[in-house]
Amino acid sequence: NKRVKIKDLLATDATGQEVTVMGWVRGFRNNQFIALNDGSTNNNLQVVVELGMLDETTLKRITTSASIKVTGEVVPSLGKGQKLELKAKTFEILGDSDAEAYPIQPKKHSLEFLREKAHLRFRTNTFGAVFRVRHTLAFAIHKFFHEKGFVYMHTPIITASDAEGAGEMFRVTTLPFDNPPRNEDGTIDFKEDFFGKSTNLTVSGQLEGELGATAFGEIYTFGPTFRAENSNTARHLAEFWMIEPEMAFCDLEDNMNLAEEFIRYIIKYALDHNREDIEFLAQRLADEEKSLPQDKRSEMGLLEKLDFVVNNQFERITYTEAIDILLQSPAYKKKKFQYDVKWGIDMQSEHERYLVEKHFKKPVIVTNYPKDIKAFYMRVNDDGKTVAAMDILAPGIGEIVGGSQREERLDVLTSRMADMHVPVEELSWYLDTRRFGTVPHAGFGLGFERLVLFVTGMTNIRDVIAFPRTPKNAEF
Ligand code: 4AD
Ligand code: MG
Repeated sequence: NKRVKIKDLLATDATGQEVTVMGWVRGFRNNQFIALNDGSTNNNLQVVVELGMLDETTLKRITTSASIKVTGEVVPSLGKGQKLELKAKTFEILGDSDAEAYPIQPKKHSLEFLREKAHLRFRTNTFGAVFRVRHTLAFAIHKFFHEKGFVYMHTPIITASDAEGAGEMFRVTTLPFDNPPRNEDGTIDFKEDFFGKSTNLTVSGQLEGELGATAFGEIYTFGPTFRAENSNTARHLAEFWMIEPEMAFCDLEDNMNLAEEFIRYIIKYALDHNREDIEFLAQRLADEEKSLPQDKRSEMGLLEKLDFVVNNQFERITYTEAIDILLQSPAYKKKKFQYDVKWGIDMQSEHERYLVEKHFKKPVIVTNYPKDIKAFYMRVNDDGKTVAAMDILAPGIGEIVGGSQREERLDVLTSRMADMHVPVEELSWYLDTRRFGTVPHAGFGLGFERLVLFVTGMTNIRDVIAFPRTPKNAEF
């Protein structure tokens, strides 16, 4: 008998058929009813072992998380909430699980507790749903770009450049740990730490992506990126996944249109193809929020929020308009903001959240930021003060996308790089895109985990990546 997955079995009317299932025990009652889960769905299959079919020793081995293989007949179930169950004919324990030692009990655990057991948390309903939704979104991302004819480009993880010019890089070293070369003052000489060259883990694949766009026309990357920022927030990881499309013959407007179409497409895809798990997560969030005071609860349920985003245009405002809205807000007048507001500031998350959650109550695209707070590669606008940047802010999350039209004029770009102390000679390969057939082009980066947070309704970024890397957190 070939193994069937529980999700597929429950989706069809297999009554009368003989099938084999394998999975992990979630519960066992009355020495008769096993709740079996194989990871394909949160719905357990009820496996019925007839009284007397198994000996005492085997019955004792049916413990939480023991793995089993059962062949039997699919029969209609009399139990509540399930159409089918499996009447066991042959039964095998594949792997024992010591119930005393197994850390995840058949009860509700806190997310904090499960974070400590991150290596086993996939076996819970919440994380089962989160990571299946994450998978569906990743698949939808490839589908979206593939259907539009974008080339998926694999940009390097080890690189010599700092794409964002923000100096938030992890160094890569091959230096001997016990006896590294030292400077005269005794500090470690990192200058040539990667076989004679100074390198780091990539913060973004954008610069390489621009080379691709100016050859293939349209590319995207989807890979891990690294930021050595020591921030302990629910929105930051040291290692996160980013999707970066880059398009030739494209301006800021086209860039925004693509970003919006893209986000709506992948959310809709997840709703259409993994509704079951999103419904589970919506219920989880609703239950969670029951214990919160009324004013702390979300105005919309998760499904309602996602449907709203799929069916409504994002708001588009300039940075200057955003600052004006903040200056005129009751929050500003009543001195509710911790950080000051004036033209030129890098908006703090309290400001971004005011705009999306209180003022517009929908995703907002903010454009044309002051050039002093943005990266060297962004195109300088005619006013000479702002750049053709766009950030997308999402309710409950803040920034999920950062992008821009790129500075395609070689002279403007090199003088801006010089102003910002970005090494022009080291990025000569990058500047070749402007030397040999430069074109208007644009792109953006979507933080994958922030998107997964938005779609799953989870609130801590550590709960939407399998093995979170945050300061002091890299055990496994
Ligand atoms: O705004 P960022 O830094 O932009 C770039 O890296 C550009 N090179 C993108 C481009 O134009 N191709 O990062 C892009 C997005 C942010 O909007 C955010 O969603 C996410 O990446 N992000 C992080 N996510 C988790 N943890 C962190 N530490 C993040 N830093 C950025
Ligand atoms: Mg940004």
